[in-house]
Amino acid sequence: MFESDKLLDRINYEIRIRSEKFKTMQPAGLYSPVCYMLEMGGKRLRPMLLLNSYNLFSDSIDEAMPAALAIEVFHNFTLSHDDIMDKAELRRNRLTVHKQYSENSAILSGDVMAFLAYEFLMECNSEKIIDIIRLFTKTAVEICEGQQLDIDFENRFNVTEEEYIEMIRLKTAVLLACCLKSGAMLAGAPCKIVEQLYELGINIGLAFQLQDDLLDTFGNQEIFGKKIGGDILANKKTFLLVKALELSQPSVYKELMYWINNVSCIPEEKIKAVHDIFLKLNIREIAENKIYHYCRKSINVIEKIELDKTLKFHLESLIDNMLKRNI
Ligand code: IPE
Ligand code: IPE
Ligand code: MG
Ligand code: MG
Ligand code: MG
Repeated sequence: MFESDKLLDRINYEIRIRSEKFKTMQPAGLYSPVCYMLEMGGKRLRPMLLLNSYNLFSDSIDEAMPAALAIEVFHNFTLSHDDIMDKAELRRNRLTVHKQYSENSAILSGDVMAFLAYEFLMECNSEKIIDIIRLFTKTAVEICEGQQLDIDFENRFNVTEEEYIEMIRLKTAVLLACCLKSGAMLAGAPCKIVEQLYELGINIGLAFQLQDDLLDTFGNQEIFGKKIGGDILANKKTFLLVKALELSQPSVYKELMYWINNVSCIPEEKIKAVHDIFLKLNIREIAENKIYHYCRKSINVIEKIELDKTLKFHLESLIDNMLKRNI
């Protein structure tokens, strides 16, 4: 079993090599934003999940590397388009692609990353590749569905917790689940475990997006690398806002709606006002409890998987580190 920092080094090394190649490709206007995006860092969680899952069953991780890279490139495509949709100016403490270059550049370089992801995936020399491409394509379609729901919810004020969870399952959790599942498939793991790992990925994905929502309001901008309060300004139906709308009494509800509908206020004033309402309603604790709930569910899934104790422990600590993030 490889140590996590070894795997991370390998992933970053491979990404650097690919990125160096893109730097020589024309038209530079298309590939330069791809390099910018790939070299601006990121936690590389998805390739880590894929390789760790593969590594539960095999040590020949080079075999799984193209798939790990494919998913990271695909993830970066979704971020680049998401930043246009969310009007976000900052990511990983750098300007987002559409701000650094232009919207058109972010759209087109995003498109090419989506296709390059398939090219990378097809470098995998595995008899399972067709099944993996099928899973990857289904996942990509689901992410689009989730992102559309996210946009639709901006203009709705009665989004239920259940609807919210389904939206984040689609926009975020399925990709993490796809990583764990495809890593195991590539390594030829038994079907039952492959499905259990998918279920595990969904639960950690839900916890992960809940954590992202929490950090967007309560995180530290320098560490998180994104603008704190961005979700509040965009009226995103994060878990925090969904619960605040659900739990507030009429006077606080009215105050919340005032800020939601206020389009001409000073952004920092809106962020502070909504932040304070969340605190008043104990939303932070409610969100932390929900994250804990999905962490417990993840642990329960791991307990059921028929794998060696040491391997399970490795999986648990990977997830533990991932969900302890403030970045
Ligand atoms: C950001 O994902 C998008 C979400 C699903 C919340 P990450 O937090 O994994 O982003 P990077 O790749 O580490 O920047
Ligand atoms: C992003 O969700 C999910 C996808 C990119 C598919 P968010 O909009 O919350 O992600 P961040 O906060 O911008 O990274
Ligand atoms: Mg966003
Ligand atoms: Mg978004
Ligand atoms: Mg977010």
